[in-house]
Amino acid sequence: MLTCRIIKNRTMKDVKNKVAYITGGTKGIGFAVAQTLLGQGMRVAISGRSQSSVDQALKEFNNDAVLGIVSNVGKMADEKDAVAKILDKWGQVDVVLANAGVGNFAPIDEMTDEDWHQMIDTNLNGAFHTLKASVEALKKSEGYYITLASLAGTNFFAKGAGYNASKFGVVGFTQAAMLDLRQYGIKVSTIMPGSVSTHFNNNEPDEKDAWKIQPEDIGELVLDLLQMNERTLPSKIEVRPTRPDKK
Ligand SMILES: NC(=O)c1ccc[n+]([C@@H]2O[C@H](COP(=O)([O-])OP(=O)(O)OC[C@H]3O[C@@H](n4cnc5c(N)ncnc54)[C@H](OP(=O)(O)O)[C@@H]3O)[C@@H](O)[C@H]2O)c1
Repeated sequence: MLTCRIIKNRTMKDVKNKVAYITGGTKGIGFAVAQTLLGQGMRVAISGRSQSSVDQALKEFNNDAVLGIVSNVGKMADEKDAVAKILDKWGQVDVVLANAGVGNFAPIDEMTDEDWHQMIDTNLNGAFHTLKASVEALKKSEGYYITLASLAGTNFFAKGAGYNASKFGVVGFTQAAMLDLRQYGIKVSTIMPGSVSTHFNNNEPDEKDAWKIQPEDIGELVLDLLQMNERTLPSKIEVRPTRPDKK
C-alpha cells in the first residue's frame, strides 16, 4: 500500500551566505530578485550594461553584500570576466539567474536587423554565455541555473516574431541544458512569466500595473525554487497574473 507522509512543518533549505549572480539586476525583475535573496542573507552580484546604471542600482541597494558588474551578456568575454570577478570576491557561485532581456516589438516586415540581433544576442545568446561562463563553478557548488524566459516562449503573437524566437529558444535551451547538467547535481529551471510590472519595453511601472505580477513575486518564486527539497526539480514554471486586465 502506498503511504503518504504528511508534511507538518516544512523545513526550508538554508540559503544564507550563498552567492548569486543575477544578470540585468539594475532594475525590474532582476533587482527585485536580488532584494529577496539579500533578505535571506545571500551575497548577490548584479550586472547591467553601463557603469551609470550599475552605480545607480548599487546606491539603491545600499548593501555591502552586493557586487555591481558592468557586463553585456551578449558578449562571452564580458560574462567570463563577470564570473571571474565574483569568484575573486567570494570564491563561489551557487545561483545564476540569466535574467537580462530586451523586447523590441514590430511586425516582421518592419523589424530592423539591429532590433532582431539585439534580442537574440541578449535574450538567447546571453543565456548561453552566462551559463557557459559559470558552469564549472556551478558544478563545484552543485548550484542552480535559472533562466528568465517568458510566456512568449510558448505563446506566439503578432509583432513578437523576434521576441518569440528568442524566448522559444531560451525555453528549449534551458530544458536541454537541464538534461545535460542534472547529472552533476546542478538544478536548472526556466521561469516563464506573463506581464510583470517593470520598465520592460519602455513601461513606466505605476498603479495602472496593479493587476500585473509584481517583480517581488518573481523574487519569492526564485526563493521557493532554491528552498525546494534536493530530490525534486520544477524545471519549467509558467506564471501569470491571476486576474488579467480587461481589455
Ligand atoms: N516585464 C515583463 O512583463 C516580462 C514578462 C516575461 C518575461 N520578462 C523577462 O524578464 C527579464 C527581465 O526584464 P524586466 O521586465 O525586469 O525588464 P527591465 O525592467 O527593462 O530590466 C531589464 C534588465 O536587463 C538589463 N539588460 C538589458 N540588456 C542587457 C545586456 N545586454 N546585458 C546585461 N544586462 C542587460 C538591464 O540593465 P541595464 O539597462 O542597466 O543594462 C535591466 O537591468 C527579461 O528577460 C524579460 O524578457 C519580462
